[in-house]
Amino acid sequence: MAEIRLYNGDCIETMKQLDDASVDLIITDPPYNLGNFMKNRDTNLVKMRENFFGAAGWDDLDFDDWQKSMDNFFMESARVLKKGGSMIVFMAIIKVETLISLAEKSGFYYKTTGIWHKLNPMPRNMNLHFVNSTEAWLYFTYKTRTGTFNNEGRLIHDFIETSITPNGEKKYGKHPTQKPEQLMEHFVEILSIEGDTVLDPFMGSGTTGVAAKRHNRNFIGIELDKGYFNAASKRIEEVPNEA
Ligand SMILES: C[S@@+](CC[C@H](N)C(=O)[O-])C[C@H]1O[C@@H](n2cnc3c(N)ncnc32)[C@H](O)[C@@H]1O
Repeated sequence: MAEIRLYNGDCIETMKQLDDASVDLIITDPPYNLGNFMKNRDTNLVKMRENFFGAAGWDDLDFDDWQKSMDNFFMESARVLKKGGSMIVFMAIIKVETLISLAEKSGFYYKTTGIWHKLNPMPRNMNLHFVNSTEAWLYFTYKTRTGTFNNEGRLIHDFIETSITPNGEKKYGKHPTQKPEQLMEHFVEILSIEGDTVLDPFMGSGTTGVAAKRHNRNFIGIELDKGYFNAASKRIEEVPNEA
């Protein structure tokens, strides 16, 4: 039976409670820090989206503060990951280079920048520009050049395509940047094995936890916001145990 540990708090402080080398895989989707960038654009985004992420308060740090927080995140991640462990970090494409340098500084081995393509993106200002339908994900291993990679003889592209999160996955509460379960399950299945421990320090609505529990991996989730934390806890609790 999967062991689930959920914490409501700041991830850097909370990760200090976790043992060294105790995690096999980190899958996370930290703040992209695009709140200020988007607010300064003359878009009708706020009107189109009642829970716009730029208004959420966790996505609009000064660049230097955001960079420092990501630096701390990689340092703590390096401490808790096992040698040979893997990490997937979602990020806006324009921030990828910054994150790779910070991760390398903490001892991560950079492997891949992949793309998640949304088949049905929000059609924001579709008559004015190219509609944004992609996000990047970065793949690293820790202290080794390869980690668990369950491709089972298949060729796996650095590109994954899914629909945006279906409403059926939002019944525990709305989160402005909730990822689809199919996307997180893809990484859980390829980069870990049953009984491994998966950590998501920016858990949001708990999607990584749902994917981990469904595939019999232990899960540690951390979320700062009490409302999101409560919704995520309930959501993960209701995933049936596999064994
Ligand atoms: C991009 S969202 C993650 C969405 C998640 N992947 C999902 O599917 O719901 C980032 C989350 O990190 C949380 N957060 C921001 N700063 C944090 C911090 N210092 N510690 C823990 N959580 C934080 C935010 O409240 C937000 O829910």
